[in-house]
This record gives sequence, C-alpha cells and structure tokens, in this order.
Amino acid sequence: MELKNNKILITGGSSGLGLEMCRKLLQMGNQVIACSRSAEKLSEAKKQLPGLITCPFDISEVEQCILLAEWIKKEHPDLNILINNAAIVHNTQFTSEDEIIEKSQNEINTNLMAPIWLSRLLLPVLETQKNPAIINITTGLIYAPRADYLFYNASKSALHAFTQVLRIQMQEHPVKITEVMFPVVDTPWHKGNPPKIAIQPDRAVREMLKGLEDDKPEIKVGGVKLLYWLARIAPVFAIRKINNLKR
Ligand SMILES: NC(=O)c1ccc[n+]([C@@H]2O[C@H](COP(=O)([O-])OP(=O)(O)OC[C@H]3O[C@@H](n4cnc5c(N)ncnc54)[C@H](OP(=O)(O)O)[C@@H]3O)[C@@H](O)[C@H]2O)c1
Repeated sequence: MELKNNKILITGGSSGLGLEMCRKLLQMGNQVIACSRSAEKLSEAKKQLPGLITCPFDISEVEQCILLAEWIKKEHPDLNILINNAAIVHNTQFTSEDEIIEKSQNEINTNLMAPIWLSRLLLPVLETQKNPAIINITTGLIYAPRADYLFYNASKSALHAFTQVLRIQMQEHPVKITEVMFPVVDTPWHKGNPPKIAIQPDRAVREMLKGLEDDKPEIKVGGVKLLYWLARIAPVFAIRKINNLKR
C-alpha cells in the first residue's frame, strides 16, 4: 500500500495509538482526519499536529456514524482510507456489576458495530478512489482473552472474524481489507499503569506502517506473533500468561 498522498479518517485519532498514527501519516505526506468524542482532546491533538483535520462524533451511536459519513461525503469526498481504531474497555465483573447491559452495549457498539457501520456507510466514497482501504485495529487478546475484560475480548474477536469474512467477500473489490493486531502498548488506555511488557506507541505504529507498505492482510505487531503460536500450541498456558502480566 502506498502511504503518501492519501486522505485518511482515523477514529480515535485524538489519543494513544490513533494520535501516533495521525502524527506519522501526516509526516509521510497524507491528509489526516481524526475523529473522537471529546472536542477538548481533539483540540489538544490539533495543537500538537496543526495539519490535522478534526471532527467530534460519538461513533457508538449509529445516528452519529450516519452524520459522520454525510459530513465526509460533503467535505472530504476524496477520502480513500478508513482506519477503525477507536475502542473502549470496562474492567467488569459479570455477577457484581449493576450496569452490565449499558456497558456491554456501549463497548460492543464502539468496538464492533461502529467499524461495521462506518465501513458500509463510507464504502461508496472509498471505492471510487485510488489506493482504497479499510484497516481494522484489533489485539493479540483475540488469541488469549484477559479475564478483566468481560466484553472487550469478545468485541475484538468478533471484529477479527468480521474482517476475515469481509476480506473473502471483497476479494475482487478494489478496497483492501487489512487487520492490525497490537500487543500491549503504553497509551492512556492503561491509565498510567501499563503492564511491564508494554511497548511504546512509536514502535507499535512503525511496525504497523511497515506491514501496510508490505501489503500484509494481517499485521501482527510485536509480541502478537509469539502469542499467536503459543495460543495454538498451548492455549491454556497462553491464557494463564496473559492473565499474569506484571504491572
Ligand atoms: N493500548 C494497548 O495496550 C492496546 C493493545 C491492543 C490493541 N489496542 C487497540 O488500539 C486502539 C487504540 O487504543 P489506544 O491504546 O490508543 O486507546 P486510547 O488512548 O484510550 O484511545 C482511544 C481513542 O478512541 C476514542 N474513542 C473512544 N470511544 C469513542 C467513541 N464512542 N466515538 C469516537 N471516538 C471514541 C477516544 O477519544 P474520546 O475519548 O475523545 O472519544 C480516543 O481517541 C483500540 O482499538 C485498542 O483496542 C490497544
């Protein structure tokens, strides 16, 4: 994939890995649009990256995804790459949590439904451009789930399966379907207390971009390559390892 002269929408572009993607893709000569809920986080991102285009939408609501797609069609009809990166997680216990229904709905809408909705809503724009692509961000936890994350592993595993099927269905279609699986990365996601094995966003995004340049359909970043094999050879051990990571 050519990584210059593109117009790229990155959901969750105001923080962590999304912000690092914005920084690097701008430096490489692309136009980048960052979407997130918080206008404040977006304006902080714009202060760091003056070339960044920003748009505040809450993608957990289908109505907001429709408005975002309409805005793109009107203001950025030359968009050719969508990166479905925004996600949330709740550390939740099934039996003791009162808001199970609201939390599961919010998490599954943000992590799984929004990438599905946005991919379909923006397809008519993407497919008319040169070098079109949909890039879905998942995690090594699709191979070995973390016990704190009641819905997160499930939402990302479903996104993984959806992405695989989309790639098969769209084999003859010009839009490339790519998945990037990140390992633990030191971002605001971990609220200042990341596991010791966390890598820096700079390294994670460099590996992601190398995989995109090499046209890999599935990019396993850092430790995800090892976790993939471990989960196949010794699945119970892999789950134990993931759940014993030191902070
Ligand atoms: N960090 C890790 O260890 C790790 C590991 C594996 C995979 N990943 C994946 O990498 C991606 C980025 O994670 P990160 O670590 O960079 O997280 P982060 O720093 O918490 O950033 C998440 C971004 O998503 C946005 N967002 C959340 N809900 C949204 C909504 N409803 N609508 C629009 N934007 C929304 C947030 O902005 P607002 O709050 O302003 O909405 C923020 O910009 C996620 O898909 C995550 O699953 C992360």
